[in-house]
Amino acid sequence: MRAAPRLGRTARQGLVRAALAARRRAYAPYSRFQVGAAVRAGSRIFHGANVENASYGLTLCAERIAITAAIVAGARRLDAIAVASATSPPTPPCGMCLQTMAEFARADLPVLLANLDGEIVEMTLGELLPRGFSNKYL
Ligand code: THU
Repeated sequence: MRAAPRLGRTARQGLVRAALAARRRAYAPYSRFQVGAAVRAGSRIFHGANVENASYGLTLCAERIAITAAIVAGARRLDAIAVASATSPPTPPCGMCLQTMAEFARADLPVLLANLDGEIVEMTLGELLPRGFSNKYL
């Protein structure tokens, strides 16, 4: 498999900053676990933060909000995603969000996991979801 294309330093920092900024808009009164996400699609950046609900199961993750914002804006291919949390090591995306990424990205999608202390773990979607379901099985 082709090696994952590394994001440039400036692009990486910009996307992480966007995810950290988005995290401040999280609505997480139940878990108090705030997550931010930023997706780059072409030259555009889309933001997301988790939005919880008193009916807990309705909670939307930061990543899926950022991804769906990109899609409804017309994007069909994600180029990179950053996820910001306050944990160390930085929180990885849940399985549902990984599957949503897989719909719109290749296995070499850079997934940047960041926290408030400046830690950044750079992985790929393929590393996080090595045998994901896809439309090739339909
Ligand atoms: N959460 C995210 O926003 N993204 C993830 O990938 C993991 C979990 C949110 C959902 C919920 O509001 C809170 O974190 C605790 O699970």
